[in-house]
Amino acid sequence: MVKGKKIILGISGSIAAYKAAHLTRLLVKAGAEVQVLMTRAATDFITPLTLSTLSKRPVLSDFHAEESWNNHVELGLWADVLVLAPLTATTLAKLASGLADNVLVATYLSARCPVFFAPAMDVDMWKHPSTQRNVQLLESYGNRLIPVGFGELASGLTGEGRMAEPEEIVALLNDFFSEGQPLAGKRALVTAGPTYEAIDPVRFIGNYSSGKMGVAIAERLAALGAQVDLILGPSSLNPVHPHIRLHRVRSAQEMYEASLAVFDQTDMAVLSAAVADYRPANPASEKIKKDKADMRIDLESTPDIAAALGARKKAGQVLVGFALETENELENARAKRQKKNLDFIVLNSLRDAGAGFHHDTNKITLVFEGNKTEEFQLKSKREVADDIVAALIRFV
Ligand code: C5P
Repeated sequence: MVKGKKIILGISGSIAAYKAAHLTRLLVKAGAEVQVLMTRAATDFITPLTLSTLSKRPVLSDFHAEESWNNHVELGLWADVLVLAPLTATTLAKLASGLADNVLVATYLSARCPVFFAPAMDVDMWKHPSTQRNVQLLESYGNRLIPVGFGELASGLTGEGRMAEPEEIVALLNDFFSEGQPLAGKRALVTAGPTYEAIDPVRFIGNYSSGKMGVAIAERLAALGAQVDLILGPSSLNPVHPHIRLHRVRSAQEMYEASLAVFDQTDMAVLSAAVADYRPANPASEKIKKDKADMRIDLESTPDIAAALGARKKAGQVLVGFALETENELENARAKRQKKNLDFIVLNSLRDAGAGFHHDTNKITLVFEGNKTEEFQLKSKREVADDIVAALIRFV
């Protein structure tokens, strides 16, 4: 719970800044110590006097004032959590790019504690690819998004972009602090993304996997305290988290070798990568010329990482695989679970709208021993990762 926790509340210049007063009051009432930081624009919306009275501490807003100058480093070490609420598009962009021209961004860069951010802006600003990219960047740094709400906005428009309600933010922080770190001291292996199998130096056989599902799982495991080795095939994602060690690989063979190198030291492994089943048997060392009317490529099997780890698995190790199916889904998933010696398998069917490679959402069914299944609704991949990790924790 937030009682006794040291919380930095960073407020930037949105009309939702008025909600920060209520948030401060709720946190102080719940027994937290709250240090408020404001951007200069935020002080146009709500006075520092209001917030210093509610937080019972001086508010820092002027970067060049003597008391603020060095405080960002000290504060970054002092806090148990940094909450950015409301977070404007401008400050979000500064955080994403590390542009530390005010005390709030400088503290963000110095902070070693978990960071939560609650954006607030007009619907079109929120939907703009630039904003969405910056949100993704912050998430890839391990920061946690407090989702925006839907409804009436200060502009008069209706849509997404409202800052989460202060009560929701307090509930989320309470969950965060009471959840603790159930996986502290545990090691996890996660494979994610596609593999590329070379045909020649410039061509490959690959697939559409983005790596999003596996990266979300790795981040969830890390947030719960596990040390994670994330073995990621070619993917544009770049997860950064103090508990995640990233190993970038290309081919199934490289993924296999990287996985075997760490598996014996791990307590759990989640194999979400879409590994190629076949690779060109004799990749050409020079670019293949277009001098024949047709051509054939001989393929050979790649190593099955899941099966290899299943065969090596010792008592106490938990192994989870994925099955992406287009027909006879449950039957195929059950057979795969058994054949690869997995503790459970995550089934997603391409027949379900919103599931699979091209989406930010997924719809899964977990298949356990003895044909036991657990079915879930369509959710964001981040929420699906939470469900998978919750099931995994029952085995650890
Ligand atoms: O047999 P299939 O490829 O459908 O099985 C999917 C599961 O096996 C996934 O967990 C996937 O990561 C894993 N797999 C693997 N190595 C392979 C092929 C699949 O680890 N070569």
